[in-house]
Amino acid sequence: MQLYDQIQETVAFIRKHTDFAPEVGIILGTGLGNLAADIEVVCELNYADLPHFAAATVESHSGKLLLGNLCGRKVVCMAGRFHYYEGYTMQQVTFPVRVMKFLGIERIIISNAAGGTNSFYENGDLVFISDHINAHHENPLRGANDERLGPRFPDLLHTYDMQVNSIALDICRRQGFRAHEGVYYGLPGPNLETPSEYKMINTLGGDVVGMSTIPEVLVAKHSGLRITVASVVSNKCFPLDNLTETTIEEVIEVVTKAGEKLRTVVKELLGSVR
Ligand code: HPA
Repeated sequence: MQLYDQIQETVAFIRKHTDFAPEVGIILGTGLGNLAADIEVVCELNYADLPHFAAATVESHSGKLLLGNLCGRKVVCMAGRFHYYEGYTMQQVTFPVRVMKFLGIERIIISNAAGGTNSFYENGDLVFISDHINAHHENPLRGANDERLGPRFPDLLHTYDMQVNSIALDICRRQGFRAHEGVYYGLPGPNLETPSEYKMINTLGGDVVGMSTIPEVLVAKHSGLRITVASVVSNKCFPLDNLTETTIEEVIEVVTKAGEKLRTVVKELLGSVR
């Protein structure tokens, strides 16, 4: 079955449960699930029940698609996402973005936990992404292109919505949150990086480094969506002098705390951006 038809089947399945028409898609990253609690949920669907969604692994087992209202906006939210390092294909990782597009969203907000490779960044800082460097060896857009989904050669000059970034930075200034605009360096993981790799990423212009987001961004751009990505710095990676070992527990602890800031910013953003 063609990807286009799979998407239509999944959308038709969701439409049997609700006619709710979301305007904004949200993908919640590692440790950033708290925002989901603020949604007045109209319809909640388990990934496991959705046709063509990837079979759940342990980590994404609790994955749910939430449709509902958040700060006066109609949103569809992925509580739990698929990571490439878990073994999913690029198509499986990005399929939900296609589905959200056909549910009607015009913009997408993606959050993630990331290592800070800019020497000025501290743990817990928020970084609104202005550009990216893609170091994945696979691409979700590879293969025959279906023009109904997007163009063969999507241009990436204006990938990130800079207007939203500037509003987000204003909100952070007002709230007293440390925040920056920066470049996301995306690679497949699951290992973290060697000191020399962190140095390379810094030298190449990467301000943060992470293992998600790029596949979803490529498909979102292919789909014509307006894109906002917010990273939370979970571990300071540069300069190398004070580098310490990083565990997933530490990442989750730092990000869960800082996630409260992001929760505030995203809610204010939804209220102010059309
Ligand atoms: N490297 C890659 N991905 C990450 C990191 C990191 O240091 N921290 C959180 N996600």
